[in-house]
Amino acid sequence: MRAGFYQFAPRFGDIKYNLQKVLDAAASVETDLLVLPELFNTGYQFTSEDEAKSLSEKIPSGCTTDALIKLSAKKKVYIVAGIAENHEGKTYNSAVLTGPDGLIGVYRKTHLFYEEKLWFSQGDTGFKVWQTPLGNIGIMICFDWFFPEAARTLALRGADIIAHPSNLILPHCPDAMVTRCIENRVFAVTANRTGSEQRGDKERLTFIGKSQIISPAGKILRRASEDKDEIAVAEININEARNKNLNSMNDLFGDRKKEFYE
Ligand code: ACM
Repeated sequence: MRAGFYQFAPRFGDIKYNLQKVLDAAASVETDLLVLPELFNTGYQFTSEDEAKSLSEKIPSGCTTDALIKLSAKKKVYIVAGIAENHEGKTYNSAVLTGPDGLIGVYRKTHLFYEEKLWFSQGDTGFKVWQTPLGNIGIMICFDWFFPEAARTLALRGADIIAHPSNLILPHCPDAMVTRCIENRVFAVTANRTGSEQRGDKERLTFIGKSQIISPAGKILRRASEDKDEIAVAEININEARNKNLNSMNDLFGDRKKEFYE
């Protein structure tokens, strides 16, 4: 299968512009899975809970999920995309998974970063893996990378590939995700954004780009620049993620010593 990411700089609050960027980029590429950044449709630096709520959308009836469903059907592509979700009066930092037949699932971010805690409710879905004809797709969002339990849980639940919409600010994630892939023997596609935002009287946030596709052996199959719009696709063999034998005597999951772990 082919897995890809689209990295760009969303315009804060301009859902129409951000969606059009994605539609144009998707038209230029052939891939089976496309991962988009966290909050790709709204931008990142909210200044109030009300603002986040006003930009959030219901899933699947909101215009963003609706457009992604149509794009998935037209291009026969699976899409993982970060959006602000409005659900039963709460606002979540969520990601949708859509496929050629419609909406497949939703993940709500577990580990909220910094001021996200002011705008979003703590995710309540837990770490989910969906079986698709491409393979088993698990989702985590950005700062979830800081908690190795997130990727581990997805791997233990059968994920072959971790789709990782992100708005990274700290510099460590691209290299840390190489380790997450080695220690779990999974593929990961991190779709980060570029650009910066400075809203209200807040500090400027600069996003680090460097979206990437990593193999279960920790090979960097694709890595984008720090600051440019980029769409990239890699051909991957999902079976590489299903062999958890490190050698004839070590099995990644079989060798876990749960009695010694917290
Ligand atoms: C982040 O979780 N967006 C840093």
